[in-house]
Order: sequence, then structure tokens, then C-alpha cells
Amino acid sequence: MTDTNGDVRLSGISKTYGSFTAVHPLDLTVPQGSFFALLGASGCGKTTTLRMIAGLEEPTTGTVSLGDQDVTALPPYKRPVNTVFQSYALFPHLDVFENVAFGLRRRGIKSVKKQVEEMLDLVQLGEQARKKPHQLSGGQQQRVAVARALINHPKVLLLDEPLGALDLKLRRQMQLELKRIQTEVGITFIHVTHDQEEAMTMADTVAVMNAGRVEQLGSPAELYENPQSTFVANFLGTSNLIKAEVDAKSGDEIVVKAADSKLLLPAARCSAPASTGGKVLVGIRPEKISLTHADDAGSIPDGRNRITGTIADTSFIGVSTQYVVDTPVCDEFAVYAQNIERDARLVPGAEVVLHWSPAHTFGLDAAQDIDAGIESVEEEAAA
Ligand SMILES: Nc1ncnc2c1ncn2[C@@H]1O[C@H](COP(=O)(O)OP(=O)(O)OP(=O)(O)O)[C@@H](O)[C@H]1O
Ligand SMILES: [Mg+2]
Repeated sequence: MTDTNGDVRLSGISKTYGSFTAVHPLDLTVPQGSFFALLGASGCGKTTTLRMIAGLEEPTTGTVSLGDQDVTALPPYKRPVNTVFQSYALFPHLDVFENVAFGLRRRGIKSVKKQVEEMLDLVQLGEQARKKPHQLSGGQQQRVAVARALINHPKVLLLDEPLGALDLKLRRQMQLELKRIQTEVGITFIHVTHDQEEAMTMADTVAVMNAGRVEQLGSPAELYENPQSTFVANFLGTSNLIKAEVDAKSGDEIVVKAADSKLLLPAARCSAPASTGGKVLVGIRPEKISLTHADDAGSIPDGRNRITGTIADTSFIGVSTQYVVDTPVCDEFAVYAQNIERDARLVPGAEVVLHWSPAHTFGLDAAQDIDAGIESVEEEAAA
């Protein structure tokens, strides 16, 4: 039997400010020892959720439990939880060693040397022990903050955009470093971020939040391969979404019509009710698609979904080339082609056939906004 003693359980937890609901009633279990990410655009309620777990914010409804213990009424310092914020808030007048020792000293522990040194080794700062925070790089300061938060062995470590102040390269490095530390100490980490790559790199389980609600929860691969809503399909990576009509159902497959094309969709991958004549959104990821020049269309094997189009734009980015293709079903079809052998004819203006395995197609409810989740990604990119 697995130990559920350290599970974090949120039951019907919500937060309203006046007439505004920052977090809608939320049920969520974070298993002990997992690396869990709350992912979503600015203002979707991530920090509010985290602060309710920490006890820094009183929930409007609902309860927070740790294992069997209901901690909703406990003040922050009585919860076996610690938080690392975006601004690490290290004590500027204390050196690295004393910053990390702080939690032990406050509890009246006299011999701190061994524990602090172990913790500094864990975050690879043994040599920096006598430096003051202003003598450290951003990444080193971040690791001091993690060490300081871990020294009292909390059951749960909450991290609110802890890498936000770092440049991209250091950020990627620290993501792997935090993941290593989490694996080594085995403590539950709940990590808040608006960066989808960060969430997917680090977490076992990701909860995608949108406007105060969890849209979908799962492993990074599950969310990416089987998005259940247009928001998740667009927010996590890129999806081509095609408006289609259900033509027929045959066994495990659904046949849909989009403009003049007939496409196949596995029934098991369609999260929408698919009755004949009904509308459905058909999704396909850009890297699952092959691009063939129209002159070679005869060489495409039977049984593949295919759409014709005209290349509108190409960008060579080294590992791949990204194409934008104008098609009758969608005017900005994205296709990513790995750079193995490049067909010199695939330039803007070229007539092409896009084709892919029906197995890679997913289906979504057409009643949703087809562009949900796109704006927020662009806003992030602009920020
Ligand atoms: N004290 C408050 N009073 C009123 N509204 C608040 C208060 N705190 C947060 N909000 C609102 O609640 C919503 C969620 O805020 P929250 O800080 O949880 O967002 P977030 O997902 O952490 O965003 P970010 O990525 O920008 O940090 C926001 O619309 C915010 O304006
Ligand atoms: Mg926040």
C-alpha cells in the first residue's frame, strides 16, 4: 500500500474577492512525493490556490487537508509546508550558511553544522557558504532559497514562479536542478508557473488552470496527446483545429468531412459526442504531419488523412523547418518537419499535400471557442 499520509487534498476550495471569483470550487489531490505543477496564464488563480495551501489566504469555501489532518484552520507556521517565492527574500546581512541555518536556529537547535552542510551539498553550494546573498548569481540565490525552505523537512514545498527572475538558459538549468533535488529528497513539490515547457519538463502531473478552474489534469504526455478542450490543445504547444462534420461512424473510426476532404478519427480519441451530421473539431499536432510536393502526391500511402494546400510561409529553425500552409479547411495550418532531407521545392507558393496517420488525430467538442488559449500564449510571448 502506498503511504497517503502526506497527500495534499483540496476539497471544494474556492476564493472570492467581493463579486469576483479568483478560484472556483476546486477538488484536487496531490499524491505524496509527486512533483505537481499548476500551469496557467497570468491571473488564472495559481498564486491564490498556492496561498490557500500555505495558509496565507483564507479560503471562501472548502478545506485543505494534509494526509488525514484538516489544516484549514491552522496558521501558516503550524502547517508542515514551506514556500519559495519568486523574490527569494534572503536575509541580506546573513551569509549563505546562516540563511540556510535560520529555520533550525529559530526552533532552538544549537548544533546546526551537519544539517546545514548536508543541505548545502544537496544544492551544490558547499563552497559558497560564507558569501552574502549579493555576492551570488541569481541561480545560486535561488538554490539558497530552496535549501532554506527544505531545512526543516516540510512535507510539502510550494514554489511560486521560483525561476521567474532568471534568464532563459539559467532557467532551463535550474529546472533540471530542482527536479534532481525533488527526486533526492522525495518531498511533494507544488510548482506554479505560466511556462508550459517548464511545467512539462519538471512535473509528473500538470493541472492546466484557466480563469479559476482546472481545465485538465494529467501527465505532460497525456495532456499533450489527448487534450480534452480547445484551451488545452492551444495552450500546450500548437494544435491545428479543423471545423468538420460527422459523415459516418464505422467501428472504431469516425469519418468526418471538412471542405472537400474526408478525414478519419479514432472514436476513442474523440471527446465530443459524434452523431452523424453533428459538428466536431478535428485536431492534429504540427509535428505529426508530413508534407509532400503535389507532383509526388501519388507516392503517399493509402489510408492516410490528406489535405491539399499552398505553402504560405517557411521558417528554418535548425532542428526543424516550420511551414504555414494555406488550406481550404484552415488558412494557417502549421507543419513542423524535422531536418533530415529537405525538399528544395517546398517554398512559399508550392502546391503541397499534408498527410498524417488517422491514429494521430483527436476530436473536440465544436461548441467551444476554437481559439481558446491562443491569446494567452501570445500575451506571454509579448511580455
Ligand atoms: N487581494 C485581492 N483582491 C482582489 N482580487 C485579487 C486579490 N488577489 C488576487 N486577486 C485576483 O484574483 C485573480 C487570480 O490572482 P492570482 O494571483 O492567483 O493569479 P496568478 O494565476 O498567480 O497570476 P500570475 O501568473 O500573474 O501570478 C486575479 O484576477 C487577481 O487580480
Ligand atoms: Mg501568481
